[in-house]
Amino acid sequence: MRILVLGSGAREHAIVKALLSEGADHEVTAAPGNAGIALEAPVVALDPTNGDVVAQYALDNAIDLVIVGPEAPLVAGVADKLRTRGIPVFGPGKAAAALEGSKTFAKRIMDEAGVPSGKAIRAGTIADAIQAIDEYGAPYVVKADGLAAGKGVLVTPDRAAAIAHAEFWLQHGDVLIEEFLSGEEVSLFLLSDGHSVLPLSPAQDYKRAFDGDEGPNTGGMGSYSPLPWLPAGFVDEVIDTIALPTIRQLAAEQKPFIGLLYCGLIVTSKGIRVIEFNARFGDPETQVVLPRLVTPLSGLLFAAATGGLGSLPRPEFSDEVAVGVVLASEGYPDDPITGRRIDGLDRVRDVTIDHAATAASGDTFVATGGRVLSVVALGGTFAAAREKVYAALGEISLQGGHFRTDIAEKVS
Ligand code: AMP
Ligand code: GLY
Repeated sequence: MRILVLGSGAREHAIVKALLSEGADHEVTAAPGNAGIALEAPVVALDPTNGDVVAQYALDNAIDLVIVGPEAPLVAGVADKLRTRGIPVFGPGKAAAALEGSKTFAKRIMDEAGVPSGKAIRAGTIADAIQAIDEYGAPYVVKADGLAAGKGVLVTPDRAAAIAHAEFWLQHGDVLIEEFLSGEEVSLFLLSDGHSVLPLSPAQDYKRAFDGDEGPNTGGMGSYSPLPWLPAGFVDEVIDTIALPTIRQLAAEQKPFIGLLYCGLIVTSKGIRVIEFNARFGDPETQVVLPRLVTPLSGLLFAAATGGLGSLPRPEFSDEVAVGVVLASEGYPDDPITGRRIDGLDRVRDVTIDHAATAASGDTFVATGGRVLSVVALGGTFAAAREKVYAALGEISLQGGHFRTDIAEKVS
């Protein structure tokens, strides 16, 4: 197959590797890709959010399948442009991508579909926001309605900070005040063709910047898969009570969800609740889920893109476990310092490096963003996988770079 992957992060690097590892002679191209992806596949300098440009490239190059990595092209309607021109695309159109792009839209869909989520109040003024903040009490959960590059959510015991966050994001639109939910978080990815869904293996993401879940929220600092502590029947319950009702509600509203439904879940004492939906693969969860996938990824995504998931068995995963740790630049997430040299990548063993924000520089790379790369290892046990990841991180040097040291510790 000729496959075009849109995006430029570690998630897209992991997707490209999974496609190439099938050994099926796929021709995989990434747009715009990154310096790490360029080591293994051609990259083209396309703006992935420009649907006309992407569609023209796909037609000119006889692309069989476009896989959309990040949310920005989805929310911009790139998948719609491709579908209109008959190009198979894994990624929802703009209307269904609002499940990620607008938290109030997601809440409405969940309410209509009877999907369990926390209580929430939408506020358009600071007076309404303060009233909702006081109604739910501490800890406070305040969210921007629209895409906010991971900065829109604040969970805090500090009422003044909650109000200040609401005040800031009200300049950009509505805010959502939510009831605080407590429990373990699960990221479950479901492939959807608009009617049927197939689950991938669950993973857990570490959202806070520092060990022990301290510090600010980030895009994700590490992950592991599978989750040995999940109750039996968890995945089936999510399919029956969350994923299928959501997909059906969207279909009934003529907003078919074709792509990856990312269910961000929390297992509370009262049952499973949705914290958020995303409309694409998660980062850094993808880096630990795809290396464990045994079933060829291309066939699954093509079937989702072309309406054929219903006839396929569930994807198979290896018994090995995976641990991934993100190396971030000094100052991430607030104000990352970029341009610094990364050394030691040639010394690592038994791990995969998924590049996120790097540029080639002489015989090595420099960091060009906040989350620089993911280091991923497979192992027979979490302890074994952790040992490999942290040994590799010990070889890599990036001035001021930081990573969490407790990823998957609790399952080791
Ligand atoms: P989101 O971007 O909505 O996934 O939120 C980012 C993170 O904030 C989540 O992964 C949770 O750790 C936390 N969070 C979001 N909503 C809630 C909530 N209602 N209760 C507790 N924690 C939350
Ligand atoms: N890992 C969180 C996300 O991809 O949104």
